[in-house]
Amino acid sequence: MKILVTGATGFLGRALCQRLTDAGHTVVGLGSRNADLTDPNSLNQFNHYHYDFIYHLAAWTQAGDFCLSHPGEQWIINQKINTTVLSWWQAYQFQAKMVGIGTSCSYAPDLDTCEESYLSGKPIDSLFSYAMTKRMLYVGLQAIQRQYGGTFVYVVPSTLYGPGYHTDDRQLHFIFDLIRKILRGKHYREPVVLWGDGEQTRELIYIDDFISFLLSVSEHCKNDIVNIGTGEGLSIKYFAEKICEKVGYPFDAIQFDHSKYVGARSKFLHIGKLQQYVNDLRFTPLEEGLTATIDWYEQQVSWKKPKQ
Ligand SMILES: NC(=O)c1ccc[n+]([C@@H]2O[C@H](COP(=O)([O-])OP(=O)(O)OC[C@H]3O[C@@H](n4cnc5c(N)ncnc54)[C@H](OP(=O)(O)O)[C@@H]3O)[C@@H](O)[C@H]2O)c1
Repeated sequence: MKILVTGATGFLGRALCQRLTDAGHTVVGLGSRNADLTDPNSLNQFNHYHYDFIYHLAAWTQAGDFCLSHPGEQWIINQKINTTVLSWWQAYQFQAKMVGIGTSCSYAPDLDTCEESYLSGKPIDSLFSYAMTKRMLYVGLQAIQRQYGGTFVYVVPSTLYGPGYHTDDRQLHFIFDLIRKILRGKHYREPVVLWGDGEQTRELIYIDDFISFLLSVSEHCKNDIVNIGTGEGLSIKYFAEKICEKVGYPFDAIQFDHSKYVGARSKFLHIGKLQQYVNDLRFTPLEEGLTATIDWYEQQVSWKKPKQ
């Protein structure tokens, strides 16, 4: 099949393109350098190809408190990106199944994370603008489908982890931030200070598992929204303890800064609908996934001798 992937230079995009290529598909992967999607004409060069699937992963965001300081830019840039991609799909690629990616941040914290609630209630303040652009992506897919036809799938991932994440100085998703801090604590004897009281819960899904489920859902689901996660939230303290065990760092040396931003208190997705689309819903055990991720991260960094 011919498949176009936006956001192909990102964490998920690189792994997805590799999996699709390995499976024998013809893949065109786009990053902002070969198609800046804030430009409405950026996809014109691909008008005359006929894709079977479009995976629209591109988004302008980072983890941590990035959303707090960039709400306006996030709104402008992500609205432009999504409008370019959806308009182009409707005008030139309507034979393609469009796969859009949402975020668990779009769920209102006081409602269940069932897909039916995705557009209900108010996402948390700190992530509001970004969360609403992701809701608008879903609204756009529904609206275009209702008026013109076409087929889409909208998936909502929990936080992805695994080898191949970013190693630049961007704000990292919590699990990579934990790994980085604890490894620096071990190698450089820096104090390890985690944000919040450590009781906030998060859900992780291993990137290879996510891609397997994404491919199944993309194939079998039609004009619907599906959460993709493990359905289990664990505390930051629990993750930190597991990383300490693996790295050989004393967990009781970790400090918790209660004054820092922690985002949502609790986050995990309901996955009842996912179970309808994936026959064998098996997850990589956390210990195994963390070991692969930590080993990969350690190899990316050239650890210098600790300061005396
Ligand atoms: N990672 C997670 O845990 C997670 C969780 C929930 C949802 N998601 C969603 O999954 C998708 C992929 O996530 P990710 O972690 O792979 O993100 P990522 O690593 O930050 O990658 C973002 C991608 O978007 C591209 N992009 C940004 N601005 C662009 C522009 N103006 N024009 C064209 N491309 C642009 C980037 O291209 P360049 O690098 O070339 O600039 C990059 O390929 C995103 O939509 C994200 O919201 C991810």
